[in-house]
Amino acid sequence: MKYDFTSIMDRHGHDSIAVDAPSGAGGKAFFGMELPFDPASREKGFEPIPMWIADMNFPTVPTIPQAIIERAQHPAYGYYLPRQEYFDAIIRWHEQRNGVTGLTREHIGYENGVLGGIVSALKVLCGNGDPVLLHSPTYIGFTHCIEDNGWDIVLSPLKLVDGVWRMDYEDMEKKIVARNIHAAVFCSPHNPTGRVWERWELEKAMEIYKKHDVYVISDEIWSDLLLDGRRHIPLQSVSEDARQRTIAIYAPSKTFNLAGLIGSYRIIYNAYLRDRVARAAASTHYNAMNVLSMYALIGGYSSEGMQWVDELCSVLSDNVRYACDFIDAHFAGVSVVRPQGTYMLFLDCTQWCAEHGKTVADLLAAGYKMGVIWQDGRPFHGANHIRMNLALPRSRVEEAFDRLEKYVF
Ligand SMILES: Cc1ncc(COP(=O)(O)O)c(C=O)c1O
Repeated sequence: MKYDFTSIMDRHGHDSIAVDAPSGAGGKAFFGMELPFDPASREKGFEPIPMWIADMNFPTVPTIPQAIIERAQHPAYGYYLPRQEYFDAIIRWHEQRNGVTGLTREHIGYENGVLGGIVSALKVLCGNGDPVLLHSPTYIGFTHCIEDNGWDIVLSPLKLVDGVWRMDYEDMEKKIVARNIHAAVFCSPHNPTGRVWERWELEKAMEIYKKHDVYVISDEIWSDLLLDGRRHIPLQSVSEDARQRTIAIYAPSKTFNLAGLIGSYRIIYNAYLRDRVARAAASTHYNAMNVLSMYALIGGYSSEGMQWVDELCSVLSDNVRYACDFIDAHFAGVSVVRPQGTYMLFLDCTQWCAEHGKTVADLLAAGYKMGVIWQDGRPFHGANHIRMNLALPRSRVEEAFDRLEKYVF
């Protein structure tokens, strides 16, 4: 490996919710929300291992800090125009990683965050209180941003078919018709199940959306984090109709751990939709690019960045294999469907809880006590589920599973 994925990076006091919140820095709340765990409940001697919020515990590719530092050394930070290199970097990235053709600068629009981008798009696609189709389990951020803006989520549950999470096309169509739905939010790869959709699955979903005139917002924030050599298929690439009815949203933030820098972007080929979404996105006057995050994207979407992501994906694949093998061998009553992308596990603890007369809340609390800061899966619509982030050096993952085996399960 050229890059470092083994050193344990000390993030304490370096502006990280992932480690500062479990250490008690900032009290029991962040951004006005109650923390999902009590920092005071942790046993002394068990330092927190952050396996909850979706960011990574690896130093990012060095070309990113280099690009930021070089720009920051020029002491003027006034109003500016996005550089052509920004657009060129995005176009090259999608060509080389995902085989995208025909993407040009005019198709790309800035959004502060992917969730904000979903809201911009839904403002165009929906009237007040309109229904929006999503799959469940569901990323909690979707639930918040859609409900906070007054739209009505209609869930179509994914089904486990021979150990693979699949869409239930019949159920999707039934709900689209029954509720007269014209907007869907699609997650590819899917958080929290880690499904990387196959082409035929995307085609089949798009056929239904086309048949009932449903416009699709495709959140592809996880599209660079693919396990075991898998490839991402952009939803817009499966047909000309998909290209025209899909608003796709991407970001370098999951890929390179840049959430604290802010910055994502949408790709819209349909000129009518593009102009309307751009207008909705601009209406708050808050949705504007930060000059340093522009340089961060340029630094990441580079040949070094590509090599770094390839190495990262191989590290994540190994971590996922290790964790799933460990669960299968040691945690009777806990089941996990192996993710194909992302760095998340979604543990189903139903049987374990029933056999031990415990609730998932008991289990979560037992983990927090031993410093395993994992995440409640219930807000993701997993009845007895726990979401675990595996983007840590392998030694940290092993330490966490060792604690879980000894003290929790
Ligand atoms: C599927 C998905 N979409 C969006 C986000 C958040 O993106 P942003 O911070 O750019 O709004 C996340 C973060 O975990 C995510 O998992």
